[in-house]
Amino acid sequence: MPTLPKMCLNGKIVAYEDCKVHAFAGGLKYGGGVFEGLRAYWNADQQELFLFRLTEHMERLRFGMKVLRFDEIFSVDHMSDCILRMIRANEVRENIHIRIIAYIDSDDELTGCGPIGLVCGAVPRKPSRFVDDGMSIVVSSYTRITDNALPPRVKATANYINNRAAELEAKRHGYDGVLIMNPDGRVSEGSGACFFLVRNGQLITPDVTSGILESITRDTVIEIARRDLGLTVVERPLDRTEIYAGDEAFWCGTGYEVLPIVALDKLAIGSGKPGAITRKVQQRYFDVVYGRTADYASWRLPIWGRQRAAAE
Ligand SMILES: Cc1ncc(COP(=O)(O)O)c(C=O)c1O
Repeated sequence: MPTLPKMCLNGKIVAYEDCKVHAFAGGLKYGGGVFEGLRAYWNADQQELFLFRLTEHMERLRFGMKVLRFDEIFSVDHMSDCILRMIRANEVRENIHIRIIAYIDSDDELTGCGPIGLVCGAVPRKPSRFVDDGMSIVVSSYTRITDNALPPRVKATANYINNRAAELEAKRHGYDGVLIMNPDGRVSEGSGACFFLVRNGQLITPDVTSGILESITRDTVIEIARRDLGLTVVERPLDRTEIYAGDEAFWCGTGYEVLPIVALDKLAIGSGKPGAITRKVQQRYFDVVYGRTADYASWRLPIWGRQRAAAE
């Protein structure tokens, strides 16, 4: 799907065609970049666009810039403003996935730490085609990167060579998605989402030292599962064969949203169909992100209402 025509480059709104970075920028040459993916949801009944958990995404981006030792770490306000201006410039009234990248913008040595560039744009995005029927996935032959090499907790562009290799391999072999194990042989995550197992009515998800991104959707799911659905959620290391023994499984992530997993390594998980608990989590998640419930209002930034209110 094409990126929307207006992007924001270093604080300026520019046409997609003019959004260019030098080919020798450290962000490209040495993989010195960190990024975020966010979603905004169009609620047709309310004629409102809700941007989901903007501040948390900007804080994670700042954390990544710190770990990569960038010379300049932009404020949450500055980066949020770039995103909001880009959305308004495109007059967005549909579901979008927003991408924002902070990168080393100098032609320098390996240790260059600045200047830092910042770019954001968005693509229209419908829910995944797997959201209803679920995915059949496979354990990757690739091992997850580790905290002492390329920390998965940081959403660094270079990390995604690992995710990409795993995803490409799975697709080559006819699977819909991939589960990556850490060097201990325990579950880490997917190529772009965190993993949840449902077993005996409990949700189990790898803990944050299992080689995962500290996912904002994972946090959302844990909160709504405990608070709204009364479920027990356990964060702990997870074995591959526990999944074979599980009743249901699902992915969660900004891009994936809440997406059922129906088989692993060609073994059905539970009934081999999306499960009832997965459906409940999914339903509640969509109610929250679309603003169909008044709950969790602080997670949603209304774009047009905010502008209307400012103009009045
Ligand atoms: C590797 C990986 N894990 C997990 C996630 C989910 O993170 P979040 O819920 O913050 O989007 C993503 C998506 O950004 C990801 O790329």
